[in-house]
Amino acid sequence: MPPYLFVLFGATGDLAAVKLFPALYRVSTRDEGDAPFAVLGVGRSDWDDAKLQQTAVAALVAVDVPEGDAAAWAATTLRYARVASYADLDAVFARATDVEAEAGTEGNRVYYLALPPSAFPDAIHALGEHEAERRDGSGGTAGWGRLVIEKPFGHDLASARALNAVVHEHFEEDSVYRIDHYLGKETVQNLLVFRFANAIFESVWNRQQVERVEILVAETNDAAGRAGYFDGVGTLRDMIQNHLTQLFTLAAMEPPVRLDADGIRTEKIKVLRSTRTARRDGVVLGQYTAGGGKEGYLEHDGVAGGSATETFAAVRLHVDNWRWQGVPFVLRTGKRMPERLTEIAVVFRKPPVALFRRAGEERTVPTPNVLRIRLQPDEGFRLSFEVKAPGDGFGVTTQELDFRYEEAFGRLPDAYETLLRDIAKGDPTLFVHADEAEQAWRLYETLLDADDREVHPYASGTWGPDAADRLAC
Ligand code: NDP
Ligand code: BG6
Repeated sequence: MPPYLFVLFGATGDLAAVKLFPALYRVSTRDEGDAPFAVLGVGRSDWDDAKLQQTAVAALVAVDVPEGDAAAWAATTLRYARVASYADLDAVFARATDVEAEAGTEGNRVYYLALPPSAFPDAIHALGEHEAERRDGSGGTAGWGRLVIEKPFGHDLASARALNAVVHEHFEEDSVYRIDHYLGKETVQNLLVFRFANAIFESVWNRQQVERVEILVAETNDAAGRAGYFDGVGTLRDMIQNHLTQLFTLAAMEPPVRLDADGIRTEKIKVLRSTRTARRDGVVLGQYTAGGGKEGYLEHDGVAGGSATETFAAVRLHVDNWRWQGVPFVLRTGKRMPERLTEIAVVFRKPPVALFRRAGEERTVPTPNVLRIRLQPDEGFRLSFEVKAPGDGFGVTTQELDFRYEEAFGRLPDAYETLLRDIAKGDPTLFVHADEAEQAWRLYETLLDADDREVHPYASGTWGPDAADRLAC
């Protein structure tokens, strides 16, 4: 890793505690070499270095880092700068210069915006102006400056365009890293390897062999404690436009010419461009009600009375290209579902003639082979196929070929760890390009603020509204 200073805007927040401190700790303590590294946390809260360090230690201990190690790391690595508003970053840049000198990070900086999206434009303007001054005043010795922006990137196509314009007023695209943490997950990256390193699968990955593709992100968590954010956003914006669309894109894209950021992004953007804007009759929205002893969405603190915000969404997409014409991709995600499960199910076409009956039955319904790429938990692949049930004439039953990552490789790195490492290395492959963010919003334009949205209630602990099942037909 190169030496660098990590300037963390929003250091007092939830993402910093839950994901970023643990990832920063691992990246800076596990990587080879011991290049100088420091973190300058920034926030409006009246905190100081000691308070930031205590918060980070608590966050690290919560993920099983020994307290002594956490405290030693925090004391040497973490500093805090307070801002009154993000429009004025004088104090932050003054402190950054001091911390940099103390740590010897040679002018390389990552600026990470872990802020509510409403704060992005002001912060980017002020940051951009200071960064330009820093470069101009340094006589070419300032090192690099990279801007990292958390999701959601805008709240619709127009706002994403406007935000891209603000970003590009100050930063070149190759210094910008838009985060979708799903791209940092090992198994999500492995989708590319699985598809393009195994000719056996690639040869059936098309409209001739595939009947439909179902992408599911089922969550057991809910919006309690986050309603201030979630109620103004909903599942289409919080999950479908970004995480599920990324999974869809990787599953549907053509092989890249080269395995680098440009090669991969080019294909991702192409497949998004080939995808029709989702239709109103191709979406089902839901909101969880009480169930299993838990209150319903409308009872959470911070949810507006009678809110129609969706906590579940299923959307059918169609790709107008040679590979996928006529094959529906059904994206489905919801909170308060019976289990946590993220998977892509590729449902192959059935045999054209049903020769065999199911074991123990008279039916001769042909069963499709299904390839399940399981992304979390229990990452792995499962391919279902038909075998003869012993001693039952030609009665058939379904079995699975199974591969599990953990059995083969042990613990997988956390997504944020991977992404922070790539930002430091300057590798943008796993980040969202400006065009990609805009195209992803375009897919859902007609659904986001439609006045006649129907939001179906579903009981907590169920798989969502029944109406969603029709989308897979
Ligand atoms: P928080 O709501 O915890 O906010 C982070 C910090 O931003 C707060 O501690 C606060 O610090 C500051 N802040 C709050 N409101 C404003 C405001 N209006 N203007 C300026 N600063 C403000 O957010 P999270 O940490 O949960 O999320 C940060 C970003 O990461 C968001 O873009 C979110 O969508 C994204 N994200 C979060 C995930 C999570 O698990 N939390 C998961 C994936 C993405 P202070 O008051 O000290 O300035
Ligand atoms: C976040 C969403 O981006 O992703 C959350 O804001 C969601 O609502 C989370 O729960 C899911 O991430 P993961 O990694 O737990 O699947």
